[in-house]
Amino acid sequence: MELKIPRGIRTIAFNCLQFGDTGKGKLVDLFSSWADIIIRGTGGANAGHSIEVGGLSLALHLIPCGILQDGLGKVNVGGSGMAIDPRIFCEELEMLRAHKLTFNNLMLALNAKLTLPTQIVRDRVGEADAGKGKIGTTGRGIGPTYSDHALRVGLFVNDLLNPDILVAGVKANVEFSTRILRSYDPAIVKEVMHQQYLGNGVFWHPEKMFDVDAIVQKYLEYGRILDPLIRDTDKYVQQKVGREKLLCEGAQGSLLDVDVGTRPKITSSNCTVDGLAKGAGLNRSHIDIAYGIFKGFYMTRVGAGPFPTECGGMMSEDWCNDSKTTRAKEEELYPDVSVNDKNEFLQGIALRRVGKEYGATTKRPRRTGWFDLPLLREALRWGSPDVVLTKLDVLNDCDEIKVCVQHRYDGPAYRFGDKLFQAGDRLDVAIPAAEFLKYCRPVYQVFPGWKKSLKGITKAEDLPEELSTILDFAIAQTGIRPGIVSVGADREETIFV
Ligand code: IMP
Repeated sequence: MELKIPRGIRTIAFNCLQFGDTGKGKLVDLFSSWADIIIRGTGGANAGHSIEVGGLSLALHLIPCGILQDGLGKVNVGGSGMAIDPRIFCEELEMLRAHKLTFNNLMLALNAKLTLPTQIVRDRVGEADAGKGKIGTTGRGIGPTYSDHALRVGLFVNDLLNPDILVAGVKANVEFSTRILRSYDPAIVKEVMHQQYLGNGVFWHPEKMFDVDAIVQKYLEYGRILDPLIRDTDKYVQQKVGREKLLCEGAQGSLLDVDVGTRPKITSSNCTVDGLAKGAGLNRSHIDIAYGIFKGFYMTRVGAGPFPTECGGMMSEDWCNDSKTTRAKEEELYPDVSVNDKNEFLQGIALRRVGKEYGATTKRPRRTGWFDLPLLREALRWGSPDVVLTKLDVLNDCDEIKVCVQHRYDGPAYRFGDKLFQAGDRLDVAIPAAEFLKYCRPVYQVFPGWKKSLKGITKAEDLPEELSTILDFAIAQTGIRPGIVSVGADREETIFV
């Protein structure tokens, strides 16, 4: 597949403009053949992507997608903006080794944030106790890792290399975390600490809650494994700017960003391109093209939080967030669903099935809904107009495609700084506050579907007219500049516009 990259471009970034899961992996994989250095800048084991090796699909959460190119001498970097759970990182290394994949050029930022078992326990206990206020986190300790960093009680990857500092840091964090966890039901804490994800109780201490020695011993062991990879990657990457071809890989999506996402139903890292640049060791100005990715004319969301265009509304949210809902159960209960079903809940299931929208990390069904221009306009405030549309083939069979052009507010009077919103007000640009957004209803413009396969299309001018009409409409409405359109999972199913 020939990549069309303008002359002089040395640094490219990909970040998602929706709620994550927009197919970043495919693009990073594609562009890693061009790049010399691939840097993952943000997030932690909450993200997930699969790489195909000899007919097998391997799930990676922390190691960048470019690792398949290691044998070609390409450098992969886990950047300083990331939250690193060393257990997961070591397991991924082991998996690569088992499949005879090399990681000779892999680096891990010494100042990436180190996730501790205390933080995973706090994440899980907090969610178990939150009832209706749940965020629906991935349970990977992300919130507590980043918040401990901001509170200055977190550890860094480099601490793994200095046993005395590691011991002192673990002790301090255990003390801090224990104080927080004492305010919860002890039975919940005990149950969480005995979950398989937390080693079936290896860090549990019957009186003190955490066994500091057990944590330290494990982390020293991880330190010995990760030692050869730990580097000052910020400095390394900065020295390569303009000299080598850099590819920055984001995680999650701008609408989940800790500062500008749909607060408070968000993740805890910076998922915009600015956050990605910083987390990769760069300034935003170092990035020559920042591609924002979104799914072509539909959206997904995992976990709790407002989603105005969700097919099936609350029913879908409850179904997808019920821990008993699995893909198998959904297939058994709803074997024959269609993307043209008049019942929106069933239509949403059909979109999920066609788009294979089940979480790579948690396996949860992703909530599905229509393309939302007010949310895109909001996300674009923190990105550039250069965009990539993915997964367009998912809508091939749709009779009609709904595009949300405005939000209609339907809730109680709401002050937003100097503005006052009342029921009936319409918005072109979404307000990313969950308490407001949950009352926003979509105002749709309906377009006819293209009703044909996109297979074999390699030029933008050969895209079906109905598809181009919607794309042109989105361009006119938002000022986006589509650079790439993805019409299938394969590398070849990528169109440079
Ligand atoms: P956390 O990042 O595990 O704390 O979860 C916070 C919110 O972000 C939850 O609603 C998650 O479902 C969502 N989230 C985190 N990572 C991803 C991702 O990679 N894709 C989609 N949603 C995510």
